[in-house]
Amino acid sequence: EKGGWDSFMDKEIHEDPAAVQQTLMGRLSEDGEIQLDEVRIDENELKSIDKIVVVACGTASYAGMVAKYAIEHWVRIPVEIELAHEFRYRDPILTPRTLVVAISQSGETMDTLMALRHAREQGSKVLAICNTQGASIARESDAVLYTHAGPEVAVASTKAFVAQITAAYILGLYLAQIKGTVFRDEIRGTLDQLQAMPRKIQWILDTQVDTIAKAAAQLDDAKSFLFLGRHVGYPVALEGALKLKEIAYTFTEGFAAGELKHGPIALVDEGEPVVFIVPPARGRNILHAKVISGIEEVKARGATIIAVAEEGDPDVDRYADFVFWRPECPTLMSPLVDVVPLQLFAMDMANQKGYDVDKPRNLAKSVTVE
Ligand code: M6R
Repeated sequence: EKGGWDSFMDKEIHEDPAAVQQTLMGRLSEDGEIQLDEVRIDENELKSIDKIVVVACGTASYAGMVAKYAIEHWVRIPVEIELAHEFRYRDPILTPRTLVVAISQSGETMDTLMALRHAREQGSKVLAICNTQGASIARESDAVLYTHAGPEVAVASTKAFVAQITAAYILGLYLAQIKGTVFRDEIRGTLDQLQAMPRKIQWILDTQVDTIAKAAAQLDDAKSFLFLGRHVGYPVALEGALKLKEIAYTFTEGFAAGELKHGPIALVDEGEPVVFIVPPARGRNILHAKVISGIEEVKARGATIIAVAEEGDPDVDRYADFVFWRPECPTLMSPLVDVVPLQLFAMDMANQKGYDVDKPRNLAKSVTVE
């Protein structure tokens, strides 16, 4: 059961490292190739794929958004993310060369199931990224890539999210391998980076828990939170915002940091808490400079800054009221670590307010109605 943890959510966040590790296991051969024997779609057919459409809901859709940045970079084909319920009831452009990827922890989300049925009726191949063996979405797809996160009980999805990103990255690298869009050495290097991530997530769990709990204790009466990120930090911001609204019932909005001056900065007032996902600082990363300038802008308007940032980032130290540190890693890998403090923060906020973190009001673990 909970195995000594206060809640399933707490237990499952602490299983984030294992979720990534187990999802990688058995998929890499000794010579560093990706082996996906389980994907029974003909290799030539996969080679001819010219577009990916991800259909999913909630957290699973944010995992898809993260994967878009990586897969487009590696495979050089467009990746679209659609909320399954929106996809189903318009007239999406699908061809036999479109690969539809349905991402679902439970595998029973009706909106996602209806979307994949629709895609198959249009002649597209569907690959499911699913955490539940034999679930409807897995059974009705042409192929399944299981996330091996283990059963997720808490309504708020945590370890499934990092496992979904991992599985989608493996799929992306596999497509790059068979299409030859990335040099072998580079694929190998990226796999090494992925394999280092469980250790990096563990570092957060080992060192940041107290800092995060203290921040939650000081911020628990805030009426609203804004979450901002750029590039892969953007879907992480959306996911952080969803976690907090879902279990702590705090009004949150997540958006792309570049949008600030196009409207949302009007919301920023004295004391408004704003969470920034700060990109890696090293190598004169242009994204880093841009996010820091966003921090400066909202700081100048009196906002309370909460930052998720790379260990020792001097710019962040200068401006942030609260910092959740994460270890150094490449940009594309950063969502796997950046989301972890946000999961812990949402849990601490909910606990602080006395809510049941595992069973938030009005929500079900799997949404089996449209
Ligand atoms: O089981 P699924 O991954 O298909 O579920 C999709 C969403 O309902 C789910 O991620 C939901 O947003 C979570 N409660 C978020 O924590």
